[in-house]
Amino acid sequence: MDNSRLSIAVVGSGYVGLVAAACFAEIGHQVTCIDNDDAKVATLQAGGVPIHEDYLPRLLAKHRNHQIQFTTDLGSAAREAQLIFVAVGTPQGKTGNADLSYVDAVASEIARSIRQYTVIVEKSTVPVYTNEWIRRVIARNGVAAELFDVASNPEFLREGTAVVDFLHADRIVVGADSEQALALLRKVYEPLTSGEYYKAADAVRGPRSATSPTPILETSTKAAELIKHASNAFLAMKISFINAVANICEAVGADIEQVAQGMGSDSRIGPRFLNAGIGYGGSCFPKDVAAFRYVAEQVGLDFNLLGEVEKINLDQRVRFFQKIRSALWTFRGKRIGVLGLAFKGGTDDIRESPALEIIQLLMHEGCRIAAYDPAAMERTAEVIPADDNMQYVHDPYEAARDADALLILTDWEEFRDLDLGRLHDMLRYPIIIDGRNIYDPARMAKHGYTYLSVGRPATIHPRETLSELKIS
Ligand code: UDX
Ligand code: UDX
Repeated sequence: MDNSRLSIAVVGSGYVGLVAAACFAEIGHQVTCIDNDDAKVATLQAGGVPIHEDYLPRLLAKHRNHQIQFTTDLGSAAREAQLIFVAVGTPQGKTGNADLSYVDAVASEIARSIRQYTVIVEKSTVPVYTNEWIRRVIARNGVAAELFDVASNPEFLREGTAVVDFLHADRIVVGADSEQALALLRKVYEPLTSGEYYKAADAVRGPRSATSPTPILETSTKAAELIKHASNAFLAMKISFINAVANICEAVGADIEQVAQGMGSDSRIGPRFLNAGIGYGGSCFPKDVAAFRYVAEQVGLDFNLLGEVEKINLDQRVRFFQKIRSALWTFRGKRIGVLGLAFKGGTDDIRESPALEIIQLLMHEGCRIAAYDPAAMERTAEVIPADDNMQYVHDPYEAARDADALLILTDWEEFRDLDLGRLHDMLRYPIIIDGRNIYDPARMAKHGYTYLSVGRPATIHPRETLSELKIS
């Protein structure tokens, strides 16, 4: 085997594990993906791709059966691997803590299989000290200290752009407390850090290149664990901050887009993650903010700032719901069109999606919903089954048909290019309430809409009156 090619096992074939595995194969390694979900492994073996993620089908098709295999057998995969990346779920526990029971179970099973020096790498987002627990579990199962190390290599990929984020990262963080582990981790990422990968004619393109390769940051294991939690908490704080400012904008009649642009032009603040809306969702920010707060509590510190971040985020959904009420007055029997179910555009993931909570609130009030999402309808139907009050439709215009109002709840790119004239004709009343600020209010006014968004002055159709629509 080529000396630069490492034998890697990735445990957990979810949004993070599967992308990481496909990308490790793409940069030349031999990868085995392990998952305890038989159906998921069967799908992957048969050539299916269980999640919606750009570039993932292409990478899996390219490497399946030569550089990447799928199995449920953790024991044999762990025996062969030089590095085992753990990317199983770390859901939120009852008190806000991260539930690490999957990581614990996987660590015990790995311990039973280790025969040669192996680095166990945390890829899941985990609280600081998890590496020490994994080390203890493995040692407790009788593995000699010189046969293994535990390292932390957090993943910063965003769903929807995960492959490009992985192969063209702002930085790779590797946290290891031994030179031997660090050397292996450096080798894993060498094609990206040396720039070699970007020279390939069929490399996935992105911001990095052979002359501007991905930087690697080497830290202690604990620092790496903290970098991940602190980064996610900081980004969530940025979103809640801008949402709070958006609410002030609404109260005083200013435009949050102008304010965010002015703030973001300061290089110390930066323009990204300053989009106001219905708040953050997804499998990471909500659980990681809670888990990081819990970590602080465990070491005797009040990180109340994070509690406020959570509160603003949840209030944002309720405010949006009130905004819908202010436009519709009563709910019972109203037909509402919904564009977007996923927690953000570009993914089929609905975990902690603000869209679902808003839909459930509306249904509880007696609304009938017609929803469209380019990728997340199947998953949503498992949570909110189709019935007389919940209809899944096949295009955005169908969602608008005869609706009393149309809501935009996810920032899918394709929603930005809708034919606004056609949409107008489909709606019973030309009212759009946009939770993601994807349209220009002036353009909406020209098309004759009543258009409400977040942190921007409302556009009111001449037939409506301002007072009725005033947001309380
Ligand atoms: C991951 C990380 O685990 C989480 O900490 C991080 O914050 C976000 O990314 P994600 O990839 O989104 O989570 O989770 P999911 O899509 O649920 O995938 C986890 C996979 O692990 C599933 O396919 C599940 O079947 C598998 N799994 C779980 C195992 O193989 N073994 C287990 O014991 C538990
Ligand atoms: C996040 C982190 O960005 C990533 O680094 C980490 O590895 C996993 O968690 P992800 O959850 O995939 O990634 O999505 P992200 O793009 O960060 O968006 C999270 C949520 O915040 C979404 O609901 C999104 O709509 C919302 N968001 C994001 C805003 O409301 N405003 C913004 O400006 C940015």
